[in-house]
This record gives sequence, C-alpha cells and structure tokens, in this order.
Amino acid sequence: QDNPNQALFDLHNQAARIYHTVLTATEEGAKAREYLHNRGISDEIIEKFNIGLSLSDNDFLYQSVKQKFEESVLTNSGLITFAENRIFDSFRGRIMFPLNDKNGQVIAFSGRIWRPEDLSNKTLAKYKNSTTTPIFNKSDALYNLDRAGQSIKKTREVYLMEGFMDVIAAYENGVSNAVASMGTALTEGHIRKLRSVTKKFILVYDGDKAGQNAIYKALNLLASDDVEVVRIPDGLDPDEYNKAYPGALGTLMTSGRMAPVEFLMDHLRPANLSNLQAQLDFIDLMSPKIAAIQSLTAQDAYIKRLVEILPDFEYNQVESAVNQRRENVVAS
Ligand code: CTP
Ligand code: MN
Ligand code: MN
Ligand code: MN
Ligand code: MN
Repeated sequence: QDNPNQALFDLHNQAARIYHTVLTATEEGAKAREYLHNRGISDEIIEKFNIGLSLSDNDFLYQSVKQKFEESVLTNSGLITFAENRIFDSFRGRIMFPLNDKNGQVIAFSGRIWRPEDLSNKTLAKYKNSTTTPIFNKSDALYNLDRAGQSIKKTREVYLMEGFMDVIAAYENGVSNAVASMGTALTEGHIRKLRSVTKKFILVYDGDKAGQNAIYKALNLLASDDVEVVRIPDGLDPDEYNKAYPGALGTLMTSGRMAPVEFLMDHLRPANLSNLQAQLDFIDLMSPKIAAIQSLTAQDAYIKRLVEILPDFEYNQVESAVNQRRENVVAS
C-alpha cells in the first residue's frame, strides 16, 4: 500500500459503515432515528450525510473490526481505547457524524448525545470529537467540504458555519455550499483550505454572543478577503432559525448578507452612546472602516447609519472624520 495511512482511512471508512448500519438497522438505532426525525433530519439526510450511531455497548466496534486491523492501527485511530485491563469503544451511545477529507475519505467522527438520560446529564459533553491522529486535526477540519466542493466551485463562494446541524439545515434549504468549522474557533488552517477553493466567504455563525464574537474574530483573520456576514436573528443558530421559520433560512443566507462594516457598526457599538467622548471614540473606530469602502454611495449610506445612532453629531461632522481617514488611506 502506497499511503502509510491507508489502514487508518480503511478503518474509519469501515467504522462509518458500521455506525451507519447500527443507526439504520437496529432497535437502538430506531430510537436514535426518532431523535433525528424530531430534529427534522429525514432518512434521506441520514443517507446523504452518512450519519450513524455508536451503540452504548462497550466494545461493539472493536469486536467488529479487531480481526481486520492491526492493534497499532486501532490504537492510532483513537476509535478504540486500550486501557490497563479492558478494551472498549471510545464513542458509545452517540449519534455519529463522519468527517471526511476533501476526497470523501472518512478521517474522524464527532458524536452527539441523544438519549434522554444523557441529555439531562450535565457532565457529558454535547459533542465528543475524534482525537488528533495522523489523518485528523480538529483545528483545520471542515465538515462537508467534500460534498460542498462542486457547489463551491460553481457559485465561487462558501458559507462558513459552526456546526453539523447548521450545515444540514442549509442543505435542506437548497444551500449546498456550506461547511462547518466544528465550533467557533476559525484558524489559519481552515482559512488556507478555504482560500484554495474559493475567494469569497460568507460567515453564518450562531446568533448568540459566542457566535457574534466569533464573527468579529473571523473578520480580523479575513481582513484582506472578500467576506460577507449573515446574522441569525433572535440569538438563534441557523438550525434553530430553520425550525422557527421554516423555509426562511435559504433566503436569509442568499439575500440577507451584510458587509463587514455594517456588522461591525452594530457589533462594536457601545451600550451607552449618550456622552460625547463615547461618540467621538466610536467615530474614530468606524471612520477608517468606512473610508476603506470603495463605493462612495456605500460610504454615504454608512455615514448616515452612523449619524442616526449618534445623538450629538451631524452628517457633515462624521463625513469630515471619514474624509480625513480617506486622505490618510490615499497618502499611505
Ligand atoms: N462542539 C464541540 N464540542 C462541544 C460543543 C460543540 O466540538 N462540546 C462543536 C460541534 O462541532 C458543534 C459546534 O461546535 O456543531 C457548534 O457548537 P454549538 O453551537 O454549541 O452546537 P450546535 O452545532 O448548535 O449543536 P446542536 O444543534 O446539535 O445542539
Ligand atoms: Mn444507507
Ligand atoms: Mn454555538
Ligand atoms: Mn449552535
Ligand atoms: Mn444547533
């Protein structure tokens, strides 16, 4: 075998098949499918995304693969835990989302709790991810990049989301060029991968505080890229928004995008803008961002927006602050 990691890929691919069969053809699987159906995940989606289930049994996966793989491969995969006096599956009783590389080979899993007794157990992590292996590193993994590839090429843009369920909700709304970074921390590794497939990024993070702060951080990392932002209202995440407003997510993602400066004007706006100094500081903060916009019409619109929220300033005052920054931009 040419690729020294081939056995690891093979094991992951087999494990995905086993998990998928457990979900679709066992009694415990029927209950897990009910959980998924209640979340709006149809059997077609289960097939499309190759979703699976790890049994709550101690070593079902181990028993299924131990004859076919060397112990070192099982150890290196992290899928099987070899303890002092027992061997057991690392993922148990979780709905399994396979993570693929860009060629569609399974390289890792993320498992979600779903059983009522687990959901009410506050000590359990909602998602458990594969450990770092020779073929997987969470810090640059992008869920769905393999399936989204074609659509990204065709549309020349990619939606960046937080989670599996968000990507699936987008897909159900006709948006097939979405990937997820498995949480909010966007890294240079993610960005390198994304830049190699497209030049246009649309951030669709959760509407909660963590998600909004993550957009802010991502905009700093993507300062020199072509980026737009979609804000999910009511503090919801895209999947929750899809449940609350059926059919609306697709339109929000395609038509509800804003420029980074519009997001920043809202996100960075101080809670209290009544005193003069706070207003001046905010003008200082926003002026260079507005001055950097290409279109003068857009600059005019953002100046107006800014003036609307500043009780003590008028259009020409903010405009001259922006013009000053613009001259700085030109001069440098
Ligand atoms: N995540 C993780 N470990 C956790 C929680 C979250 O790795 N304990 C990752 C998962 O990839 C998850 C993403 O971060 O999809 C976003 O987290 P969050 O918004 O909390 O979860 P949701 O994606 O909304 O998950 P769900 O809808 O299933 O509750
Ligand atoms: Mn199937
Ligand atoms: Mn979140
Ligand atoms: Mn979420
Ligand atoms: Mn969610």
